[in-house]
Amino acid sequence: MDSTKEALEIGQDQVVTVSADSVAIIDFDGVEVTDAKRYTIEWDAAAAQKGGYDSFMAKEIHEQAGAVADTLRGRLENGSLQLDEMDIDPSVLRSIDKIVVVACGTAANAGAVAKYAIEHWCRIPTEVELAHEFRYRDPVVTEKTLVVAISQSGETMDTLMAVRHAREQGAKVIALCNTRGSTIPREADAALYLHVGPEIAVASTKAYLGQIAACYLLGLFLAQTRGNLYPDEIAALMGDLEQIPDQIQQVLDSSAQVEQLARDMKDTTSVLFLGRHVGYPTAMEGALKLKEIAYIHAEGFAAGELKHGPIALVEEGQPVFVIVPSPNGRHSLHSKVVSNIQEVRARGARTLVIAEEGDDAVLPYADEVIRVPATRTLFAALLTVIPLQIFSCELATAKGLDVDQPRNLAKSVTVE
Ligand code: G6P
Repeated sequence: MDSTKEALEIGQDQVVTVSADSVAIIDFDGVEVTDAKRYTIEWDAAAAQKGGYDSFMAKEIHEQAGAVADTLRGRLENGSLQLDEMDIDPSVLRSIDKIVVVACGTAANAGAVAKYAIEHWCRIPTEVELAHEFRYRDPVVTEKTLVVAISQSGETMDTLMAVRHAREQGAKVIALCNTRGSTIPREADAALYLHVGPEIAVASTKAYLGQIAACYLLGLFLAQTRGNLYPDEIAALMGDLEQIPDQIQQVLDSSAQVEQLARDMKDTTSVLFLGRHVGYPTAMEGALKLKEIAYIHAEGFAAGELKHGPIALVEEGQPVFVIVPSPNGRHSLHSKVVSNIQEVRARGARTLVIAEEGDDAVLPYADEVIRVPATRTLFAALLTVIPLQIFSCELATAKGLDVDQPRNLAKSVTVE
C-alpha cells in the first residue's frame, strides 16, 4: 500500500500484464478485457502492521470502535438508508417472503444476530444456516427468497457455493463482505461492504462487529423499503446505533479486569458460555474464540437449553460466562437469564457475568461482574462480545500461543 491505492477487479481465468506505465488484461481466449472495475483502497500500510500491540488480534480488538463507526458512516442520505451496491429492484425486495442467511464460522454467528433484528423489524421469516449445510441439503429457495451471504474475505468456498446454488434457484443474493473486489460480492446481486479495514489475525474480531452492524443496516434498509418502520423510527434506531462506537470504546477502556481474569484462568480446561436472544450467538462466538486461539474446550449454549442437557456438565468450580440482556428490555428475558445464573451457581459453577451498568439483580449470583454500557437489547450484541474476545486473546497470550496464527486454521478457506 506504499506504492498505490488503485486496484482493479480481475475475473476468473484472466491474465494481467503489468509494466511501468500500463496494465493489460486478457481473458482465457486472449481477448483484451477493457471493463475491469477500478476502485480505490481505503486503508494505508499502517493498517497492516501491529502498531505496538503484541498481536494483530489485540490490535484489531482495540480498533473496533472505529471499525463499527466506519461500517455505519455515510449510510443516511437525506434521511434515507443506502447500501454500497444495489442491483435489486425495490419491488423485488418488497415481494420476498423469506430470508436465508448463509455463512461459516464467526460470520455465521453474526448471521444469527441478523435473524433477531430482521424478524423484529421487518417481520420476514429469517433462517440462518451454515453455508455448507444449506448447499448440500436441497433447501426451499424460490424467486421470493432473499439470500444474505456474510463473509469477511468474500472468498470462503463453502459460502460461495451456497451463493451460486441460491442464484441458480432464482433467489436474489445480498453479500455482506469486507474485501472489495472479492468473489462473493461480485457474484451477488447487491453488496454491503463492512469497511472495517484489513483483518490479519485468523480469529475474526473487528469484522464480526462490522458484520453485525451491517446486518442491522440491512434490516433497517429492508424495513425502510418495505415500509415496516416509519422514517422517524429508523432515525431513532440509527441514532442509538451511532452511539455504539463510543460505547465500544468504553468497554475497551475497561479491559484490565477481563485481562486479569484471563491470566488467572490460563490453566482452565473447560469454559461454558450461556445467553438468550442475541446473547445466544454471543455465547457461541465467545466459545468459538476460546477454541480457536486458546485450544480450550468451550461450548456456547442457549441459556434456556441448559436444563435439557448441558447442566449435567456443571461441577464444582466450572467457569460459566453468562451474557445478561438489558433489564430495560423485555423483563421476562432478563429475569430468565438471572434464573439461569442461579441454576448453574447452585451446582457449583463459577459465574462470570456480563451485564449492563446498573443491573444489580445479577449481583447476588455473580462471582465476577463485567460491565457494559446500556443500549437496546438488539444492539448489545456489539458490546457484550468484546470482553469475550479480550478474554480469549489474553488467555492465549498468557499460554504463550501464537494468537494470530492458530494451529490448523486458515484466515480464508478457499476449498469446500
Ligand atoms: C475461516 C476463519 C474464520 C472465519 C471463517 C469464515 O474458518 O478461520 O475465522 O470466520 O473462515 O470466513 P469469512 O471470510 O467467510 O468470513
